[in-house]
Amino acid sequence: PEGDYEKGKKIFKQRCSQCHNIDSLATKTGPTLNGVIGRKSGAVAGYDYSGANKAKGVEWNRETLFEYLADPKKYIPGTKMVFAGLKKANERADLIKYIEVEAKK
Ligand code: HEM
Repeated sequence: PEGDYEKGKKIFKQRCSQCHNIDSLATKTGPTLNGVIGRKSGAVAGYDYSGANKAKGVEWNRETLFEYLADPKKYIPGTKMVFAGLKKANERADLIKYIEVEAKK
């Protein structure tokens, strides 16, 4: 089911925004998520990814983000992203809805 943009916005602010921008290209601890939908993993130029994130070789979209964000260390063993994951599927759907809209701006 489609997620709820407003709920996703709150989740992004609380759980992701300390490490990721989505409305600008600037790097924080993590790479920008601006443009992330349709982008290959590990592809932000100039960002110092872990070898594991670089080597993953997936395209970020609704399906891959849904799996990754449930348990990042399971999806990318060796990732340097320190984030336990969002266990609730409805929260992931909301967050991804927000990301889909904002990443394109
Ligand atoms: C990487 C999303 C929370 C730090 C990534 C990537 C995505 C992502 C999609 C892969 C980017 C790529 O391949 O270009 C998210 C979302 C979050 C979140 C949606 C909230 C639910 C966090 C938090 C931190 C963080 C809280 C910092 C404590 C990083 C770092 C990387 C990364 C350092 C690079 C990983 C590596 O090179 O191994 N994140 N993230 N993220 N994220 Fe997050």
